[in-house]
Amino acid sequence: MHIVTIEDTFAAWREAALQALAQRVAPETIEWRIAGEGDDHAVRPTLFDGDAVTPPASKARAEVRISRDLAELLKDAALYRDTARWAFLYRVLWRWHGGDRSVASPADSDGARLYKMAKAVRRAKHDMIAYVRFRLRDAGDAAPAPDLPEYVAWYEPEHDVLAWSAEHFARRMGRSTWLISTPDGAAWWDGTALRLERRTARSNDHRHHAADEAEALWLAYYRSTFNPARVNETALEQHMPVRFWKGLPEGRLIPSMISEAKRGARRVAQASGVGVLGGKSVPVDAQSAQPARQQPSTLDACRRCELWRHATQAVDGIGPDDARIVLIGEQPGDQEDLAGKPFVGPAGRLLDVAIERAGLSRDSLYLTNAVKHFKWMLRGKRRLHKTAAQQEIDACAYWLERELDRVKPAVVVTLGATALSALLHEKISLSDCIDRTLDVDGMQVIATWHPSYALRQQHDDARERVLAAIAATLTRARELADAVRERQRAPH
Ligand code: URA
Repeated sequence: MHIVTIEDTFAAWREAALQALAQRVAPETIEWRIAGEGDDHAVRPTLFDGDAVTPPASKARAEVRISRDLAELLKDAALYRDTARWAFLYRVLWRWHGGDRSVASPADSDGARLYKMAKAVRRAKHDMIAYVRFRLRDAGDAAPAPDLPEYVAWYEPEHDVLAWSAEHFARRMGRSTWLISTPDGAAWWDGTALRLERRTARSNDHRHHAADEAEALWLAYYRSTFNPARVNETALEQHMPVRFWKGLPEGRLIPSMISEAKRGARRVAQASGVGVLGGKSVPVDAQSAQPARQQPSTLDACRRCELWRHATQAVDGIGPDDARIVLIGEQPGDQEDLAGKPFVGPAGRLLDVAIERAGLSRDSLYLTNAVKHFKWMLRGKRRLHKTAAQQEIDACAYWLERELDRVKPAVVVTLGATALSALLHEKISLSDCIDRTLDVDGMQVIATWHPSYALRQQHDDARERVLAAIAATLTRARELADAVRERQRAPH
């Protein structure tokens, strides 16, 4: 039996494999070992005269011509996490070298395994590019040294794709310095050069290994940015599937940081309830989400869809129960989510201008949203609005219907497409209905733009045009409500 000890890299395997082929060493007579794993002193590589980690340059190498596809497959499969992969890849190469081209076909059992491994690795590469989240270390971070990278990220790749994706990020992130830490090592980019530190089984014992330092850095960073008032463990799931979060190093920090927090009792309750649940969340049909249970008695207890997990609180409508006009927005924004009241942020301030121009007062109106929980995604440290899915809008229609039944307004103004779809129970194009008056269940419904559409306009005059259109709709709503009142007062 030949024992070949190599570094755990494709280049090292390739070099050793070509030498083994040159010496016609059959796959079943080689035991592949990784340098640094197991009892190194017991390893006496026979094939490379006791120095298999860096085989002597003079060793003859076989000339193997392989197709581009096979080369790509081998390279990708080499990143598959499986201790048997080097032996397997050598068998593939051996068969190919022996003229057996079927080994590169998915119809062959080795070929099929090769394809499967390569596919899994390509997926892991894609996932890593898509799901790595760099966070900017800001000046207030508990930074233990001045030469720390500007951006840091923690990630657990399914396969050994750190080096590959580090090169990808190095090409795309310019001169920004960064660190990606993983359980098996770290990649550092100082703006000009990439350093990869692998954590091998042996180096796990070494307290000051770079990967350990990287993890310590990450934990220090995470602790310094932790904001208990904002923490939402499950919100992170919005950005990446649960499997990318399992076992995060900061996972063990979170419970103690939460319990130390002065605020956030609600979060603690969520964490203890949700945190013990295994598995990952599966989207469910809104109507069947709680088939066997009574409808939640208060909005805050609503679990008709998953949005409650990510929001600070449900935001109920506000205004007099006998309001003649109801305004329906889309969903609470960042500020509404924190305040627990609708339309208190920038869109609300613009809406106030339109309300005033229409000769109405906010106090006389009932303001609510189609969706009662804030749906968001994280951009840096900002929570950005994310449009609710029809399923979530449908789930929340339950609450909107109750509000309308209670208030019984003469006129409803829908702000934006989501509100209109919620009211009409179907996805509808806003431009088809804008400024038209519809009769819905005895209420006069007028659709107009959402104030945030005005906020998104680049130029002042465009913003003014949208604002004027909203104000005109509100004026029309006032006139309609007045007319209905007059009709009700008029003797029959
Ligand atoms: N946008 C909405 O649609 N509703 C709010 O409450 C705030 C912003």
